[in-house]
Amino acid sequence: MARGRSGGKALVLGIESSCDETAAALVRGGREIVSSSIHSQAAIHAQWGGVVPEVAGRSHLTKILPVIDDALAKAQLTLDDVDAIAVTTRPGLVGSLLVGLSAAKALAWVRELPLVGVHHIEAHVYAATMEHEVAANGGVYPCLALVVSGGHTALYRAESPLEMRSLATTRDDAAGEAFDKVAHVLGLGYPGGPRVSKLAEGGNPRAFDFPRFRSKDGSPGFSFSGLKTAVLYHVRGQDARAALPPPESIRDRADVAASFEAAVVDALVDETLRVARREGLRTVLVAGGVACNQRLRREMKSRAESAGLRALFPSPAYCTDNAVMIAGLGYEALAAGRTADLALDASSR
Ligand code: KG4
Ligand code: ZN
Repeated sequence: MARGRSGGKALVLGIESSCDETAAALVRGGREIVSSSIHSQAAIHAQWGGVVPEVAGRSHLTKILPVIDDALAKAQLTLDDVDAIAVTTRPGLVGSLLVGLSAAKALAWVRELPLVGVHHIEAHVYAATMEHEVAANGGVYPCLALVVSGGHTALYRAESPLEMRSLATTRDDAAGEAFDKVAHVLGLGYPGGPRVSKLAEGGNPRAFDFPRFRSKDGSPGFSFSGLKTAVLYHVRGQDARAALPPPESIRDRADVAASFEAAVVDALVDETLRVARREGLRTVLVAGGVACNQRLRREMKSRAESAGLRALFPSPAYCTDNAVMIAGLGYEALAAGRTADLALDASSR
């Protein structure tokens, strides 16, 4: 356990800037969430239909210090109370990562505080353990982790919060990316996931039988490009030169959204439970932006339970990018003695 200056568990300031959220948070002892502050760039990037790296980097630069100040103010604490600084170093947009990393290094240096670098994907997975009592007694590991976000869709075998090995990944699009592309086809705008699932609430998930990928040789993995194309053909037809129809003229739009969502969720749940069985693992942690999806949460929990397994999710607020997960996993790295010096670097991979 890493002790803080007051003798209690260490208070870690987490900083996250890997993509389009600038975030800071204070977490004590890796589990007690003290405060969280997030500035989302979604509205800035919406006009381009996706994240523009240059624009993201510049926005992080203007928001990083206000967001850190906000996290401290919400907690009614100052930097004097902080015991260590944790920061996302990879993977992500390098120009964005460097903004958070530079702020973290400056604070660590001036305040003479330990600095720890955190892997963004491992932190997403850690978030799924933070709010559950079961995690405290070490009953979670080893487990299977499903990370489903805009940039990643992968299964990992996790031996501990800091030891993860990739078992399967997507052969093409990430699940969140498929949601975002289908949102575009349905004229829903960016970011697409929450809008597609909102529309799906009023639709019939069995209206259309969209394809669910299954690898031919039985090797684990995901694929969403066939599904995405099936939705595109359904809405626009197969003529690549044809324009997308205006949103209001798309027939059965809610049914398309619901049937698409059901296909993604089926594929994610089937493959996750299949791999869990194969690996002999009884706990599944689900994390990343798509873990906000209510259908995925419902189906994964009930089907895992029927199979005698347990599926844990973070609260929706900690599924998408945030700094609570960075401060949380940062505490574990600190406790394991994995501190870094000022040569700590960022990496896109
Ligand atoms: O983890 P995240 O915030 O950022 C990445 O690291 O990518 O995930 C963002 C992704 C986006 O693709 C977004 O459309 C998707 O998560 N997402 C959802 C939902 N909320 C966010 N997808 C499906 N259903 C949702 N409710
Ligand atoms: Zn993320």
